[in-house]
Amino acid sequence: MSTSPSRVAVFGAGYVGLVTGACFADLGHSVVVRDVIPDRVAALQRGEVPIYEPGLEELIARNAERLTFTLDVPEAIDGAEFVYIAVGTPPTYSGDADLSAVWTVIDELPALERHCVVVMKSTVPVGTGLRVRHRLDERGLTHVGYASNPEFTAEGTAVKDFLHPDRIVVGAFRDEDGDSVAALHAGIEGPVVRCDVASAEMIKLAANAALMTRISFINEIANVCEATGADVVRVAEGIGLDRRIGPSFLRAGLGYGGSCFPKDSLALKQLAANSGYHFQLLNAVIEVNELQKRRVVGKLSNHLGSLRHKRIALLGLAFKPDTDDMREAPSLVLAGRLLAEGAAVVAWDPIVDGGDLHGVEIAASPEAAAVGADAIVIVTEWPELADVDWAAVGETMRTRVLIDGRNMLDPEPLRAAGYTVEGIGRAAHDGAG
Ligand SMILES: NC(=O)c1ccc[n+]([C@@H]2O[C@H](COP(=O)([O-])OP(=O)(O)OC[C@H]3O[C@@H](n4cnc5c(N)ncnc54)[C@H](O)[C@@H]3O)[C@@H](O)[C@H]2O)c1
Repeated sequence: MSTSPSRVAVFGAGYVGLVTGACFADLGHSVVVRDVIPDRVAALQRGEVPIYEPGLEELIARNAERLTFTLDVPEAIDGAEFVYIAVGTPPTYSGDADLSAVWTVIDELPALERHCVVVMKSTVPVGTGLRVRHRLDERGLTHVGYASNPEFTAEGTAVKDFLHPDRIVVGAFRDEDGDSVAALHAGIEGPVVRCDVASAEMIKLAANAALMTRISFINEIANVCEATGADVVRVAEGIGLDRRIGPSFLRAGLGYGGSCFPKDSLALKQLAANSGYHFQLLNAVIEVNELQKRRVVGKLSNHLGSLRHKRIALLGLAFKPDTDDMREAPSLVLAGRLLAEGAAVVAWDPIVDGGDLHGVEIAASPEAAAVGADAIVIVTEWPELADVDWAAVGETMRTRVLIDGRNMLDPEPLRAAGYTVEGIGRAAHDGAG
């Protein structure tokens, strides 16, 4: 494996492209990140990072001499040995992955005369690599290599995940292309899984599906716990200690969201359906998740009766802590459902400004959101919420009802402070006050 610095072009300056570019620069490679949004590129050129991802700003600043940003394709491609594609692949109306940005990048590539490797970082349906290979060949770019190198980082821990991965997956049509993509990662400790392109594409989709399945599984266990008097937090601890099962992704809550799981599950479902297979288990996983986001509304009604004119404080908007990503956040469904029930919705989030959430009042702090509220719902487990003086907050509420949608708070002190507390998959606790 060669360890000499390479020239890398990255197409897409989003969550994945920026982390990929900054981490490769940190490994000593020379990186140009290209995007199509002028404001985004201008901000990056001024040293401003347009997304919130812990550690990314420092990483970009530290590697400024090896990491540049451009709108210009020839400038990005100039001398590049690797052309990473990290553009978005959002769902189309039919649920299939929208690959239009991927095709745009392929078509934008100039008539390269030298060898380089196009590397797919974006999450794409199985079979995409083969189609890209054909398109490159049709354009006479048979000497240009192609590899699939899917991304497994999680928002909020993406820099750490990239530099300390569980594995690096490299699928290629030609061994030498796979070898060079693997060598580009020299300096990163982690097993390298080498395979064919289709399998690399499927590893990404299957890994996400497995994680989503665990989430929907524990949420269904939680719902049965509620009906039978068991406590899902204890249950998850008890099953997670089984080495065959493990503790990750066994936290019951409001369901998964974000830019990847919802769209990737739909894309895999449609990929299967388009191939003539009905993926029953995945369909159930998706359906359970949809219902899970709405269950909170039922819990609130159980405690408050009609929600019309009730004031509900949503604490946390981002789909998970340490990100400003609102794509498919459960808060969006919850706010929409509550507004439809006639409730007044006030929300707080430490990062997301929420200004574009139609009909939702935004508060500057959890305490401010709670004033006059009939109920609080913890939507995102922001660590800040563990430090709130809940007894003092309760004094300012109209009714002390707290739905802990992430099971993050100890219900006993809340109960002692007069709250009626309900988590997910745990017995409801009535306030003592
Ligand atoms: N967000 C994650 O944590 C994550 C994790 C693993 C995999 N992925 C996958 O990685 C891909 C990118 O995700 P993301 O969250 O970074 O998306 P994103 O929307 O944050 O960023 C995509 C960027 O690509 C840019 N773009 C569009 N067309 C372009 C072009 N022709 N040339 C250059 N740039 C162009 C967009 O302007 C945007 O800035 C998706 O396929 C996603 O499924 C994302």
